[in-house]
Amino acid sequence: MKKFYSLFLLLSLALVVSACSADSKTDSSDGSKDKNSVEIFSWWTGAGEEEGLLALIDQFKENYPDIKVENAAVAGGAGTNAKAVLATRMQGNDPPSTFQVHGGEELNKSWVAADKMTPLNDLYEANGWMDKFPEALIELVSNGDDIYSVPVNVHRGNVMFYNMDVFNEHGIDVPTTLDEFFVVAEKLQAAGVVPLALGDKESWEATMIFENVLAAELGRDGYLQLFAGEIDFTDARVVAAAEKFGKILDYVNEDHASRNWQDSAQLVAEGKAAMINMGDWAKGYFVNDLNLVTNQDFGYFAFPGTVGDFAVITDTFGLPKGIDNVESTKEFLTFLGSVEGQDVFNPLKGSIPARIDADPSKYDDYGKDTMEDFKTAQLFPSLAHGSAASEGFVTKANQAVNIFVTQRDVKNFIDSLQNAAPDM
Ligand code: GAL
Repeated sequence: MKKFYSLFLLLSLALVVSACSADSKTDSSDGSKDKNSVEIFSWWTGAGEEEGLLALIDQFKENYPDIKVENAAVAGGAGTNAKAVLATRMQGNDPPSTFQVHGGEELNKSWVAADKMTPLNDLYEANGWMDKFPEALIELVSNGDDIYSVPVNVHRGNVMFYNMDVFNEHGIDVPTTLDEFFVVAEKLQAAGVVPLALGDKESWEATMIFENVLAAELGRDGYLQLFAGEIDFTDARVVAAAEKFGKILDYVNEDHASRNWQDSAQLVAEGKAAMINMGDWAKGYFVNDLNLVTNQDFGYFAFPGTVGDFAVITDTFGLPKGIDNVESTKEFLTFLGSVEGQDVFNPLKGSIPARIDADPSKYDDYGKDTMEDFKTAQLFPSLAHGSAASEGFVTKANQAVNIFVTQRDVKNFIDSLQNAAPDM
């Protein structure tokens, strides 16, 4: 994490289980993969998740008709189930041709450290990518001089989406600080509207709120220091963040534990809740699945207290060691990193392209605004989505958050995080 601390500090100013639609069987009888095939492993299935992936695969198949594609997506937001399936496969020396992995510690501490990935420097050089991806992203997918994956996008995690009719009807102004948020939430609750939608059936949704409150309380630099192990979780600012997180939870829908992220986003779409903190895959869901119009039906603003900051979530794909179809997989990664591939995928996914030379006219106002913000904001890596800390720590933090949501015991919560800190 130290690396990301200095990296984000320096660069931010400058800039279950269901396998889905196997298009074709690519296993041969001895279990090895057909050389002219690629198996793409992700957790992008269902509403708000799969449209971008399917469009990407369709265009790839059109451009590379000789390569068979197997879409091996495993349902469950934020990789809830997929990561366990992937771990089993990697440990059993049965890696997919390529798999979704967040840049940062999830890639580095899980797979690069275990010597399971092939460096992709040659691919970056062959495609002239070194100055096409922001340095901050290349650093996130690198270990030393070796680059280990190709970022397809950047999602923003510190966004609040809101129902514009509800805000208008109740005379609500966009809150920019947590204090303003609490005033707004109180007003909405008194008027019988759920202020904040939450669906924490999978606990990462609540962890996202907590990480954003941490950024609000500690500031971007303090947040980086916390995950670099330079600030303890017992620090008064972290305790204050936990208290404010608890207060925010007073304003969420009662049935939060039975909803996933799509179900909770629907509350905002239907005007039953006013706001939701969700990564901007929710924007893809609103527009492509619920047919809502950006800046007409729903608006967006930075999570209160984090104006000028940008929680980075980047989905990347790499080349595991031990696969038979290296060349076909490299063709897919080449397409994934191309302007064409990124501009097919991201307008549907809700994310912005990872490349700096993609075509802004393909994106709606939200996408254009977010591209601008990404260039100027202070970046910080998401905890819930694997960039700030190791998978082991994220799992423990999610468990601690889950318990906190029901028990609201700040001391117990802080102790659990502090005890897990050596795993960061
Ligand atoms: C994140 C991922 C996003 C989106 C989200 C919800 O971890 O980076 O692309 O899929 O989970 O599942």
